[in-house]
Amino acid sequence: MNNIIIEGGHRLSGSVHISGAKNAVLPLIAAALLPEGVSEIEETPWLTDVCYMCDVLNYLGAHTQYADGILQINPASLTDCTAPFEEVQKMRASFLVMGPLLAKLGEAKIPLPGGCAIGARPIDLHLKGFEAMGAQITIGERYIEAKVNNLHGARIYLDFPSVGATENIMMAATLAEGLTTIENAAKEPEIVDLANFLGAMGAKIKGAGTDTIRIVGVRALHPARHTTIPDRIEAGSFMLMAAITGSELFLENVITSHLQPIIAKLNDAGVRIIDEIDGLRVLPSGRILPVEIKTLPYPGFPTDMQAQFMAFLALAAGNSTIRETVFENRFMHVAELQKMGADISVNGHTAIIRGVPKLQGAYVEATDLRAGAAMIVAALAAEGETVIGQVDHIYRGYENIVGKLVEVGAKIREEQSAE
Ligand code: UD1
Repeated sequence: MNNIIIEGGHRLSGSVHISGAKNAVLPLIAAALLPEGVSEIEETPWLTDVCYMCDVLNYLGAHTQYADGILQINPASLTDCTAPFEEVQKMRASFLVMGPLLAKLGEAKIPLPGGCAIGARPIDLHLKGFEAMGAQITIGERYIEAKVNNLHGARIYLDFPSVGATENIMMAATLAEGLTTIENAAKEPEIVDLANFLGAMGAKIKGAGTDTIRIVGVRALHPARHTTIPDRIEAGSFMLMAAITGSELFLENVITSHLQPIIAKLNDAGVRIIDEIDGLRVLPSGRILPVEIKTLPYPGFPTDMQAQFMAFLALAAGNSTIRETVFENRFMHVAELQKMGADISVNGHTAIIRGVPKLQGAYVEATDLRAGAAMIVAALAAEGETVIGQVDHIYRGYENIVGKLVEVGAKIREEQSAE
């Protein structure tokens, strides 16, 4: 496994092209199992998570092909309803094939999902939805099996607006008989992107982006071509990399409205961001002001930006608090930031960040994907050299992160680790 090595204390400048969103493209890929014929997804970021998802589809008998940012998916030879154990273990989002498989083949057998180690992350809400639609669910030691003779519409209330459950149920409902209503649905931009792709295939969906989504099932869907929305978490991460180094940085390919919860907190912290025609410009700012953050489902502050913001606030002029309400146990980056001199304590679901004047380079680990991005944010501003280990986590969700940072002047490189 490689390390990323960063010499801190250098300003960034220039512009960064933001890739298609990882969290949008993974459900889009699963959705491409639903129609007959070849669908195309433009702005597909080439990430390890995308490769895992393609592996799952290929294993199921579909055919995927990637060139120049366009992913072609042909589900014509989809025959197998059992997803591969190893791939699903590597990535929780591969559970998203369950909805399409149930709808298309009436059967799905999926290993219990893995993914980033950030808390229990159950899938009960997905299963509750499928059961309401007529599926029989059997939970084994390693696999979950679902079977259905007649997938039918249902009224499904989600106890929590789960992104994955909303997506999985929405996909299954496109081919179910009658009306499905998802109440307390997730409202993330990635849900709207998926609904747009499904709509382009001929699905009848209303209300995506609100807390009530209505889907009237159709007999069949046709393939479609779709462009993935830009990655709001990648954009937010680059904003913080600019802000912590006091740099001016331009971000191309962003949807500003998706970034409002992040921009609002950056503004509170004293960072100025200008909305321009082709993108967003982060301006150099002075001392970081402390802020209070509580993670929430969209349009609240995203849990996927929590770690990176914590790294940034480690250098604030005063005390900040971050309360994590979406996931259990998502503070693994705290111990890593402490190695760099951050003064952070955790009390239950709340972290108190006492700003320090400087961070020091150290050996740290990317304990999960966003924690890894947080290490990059901190390292760019730290004195001396930081070596980040376990960087495979970072490559799951940040396309060409080292290349993009080199382009804007960061002193960053990759090296084979000693083990
Ligand atoms: C998605 C994102 C992830 C992000 C998360 C929250 C993808 C591929 N991943 O993950 O990056 O951090 O949304 O914005 O899009 N829950 C249940 N039962 C369920 C499902 C979820 O209790 O059946 C709980 C989870 O344990 C967690 C919370 O709901 O505490 C949020 O999970 P969910 O919104 O489902 O996240 P994911 O779709 O897994």
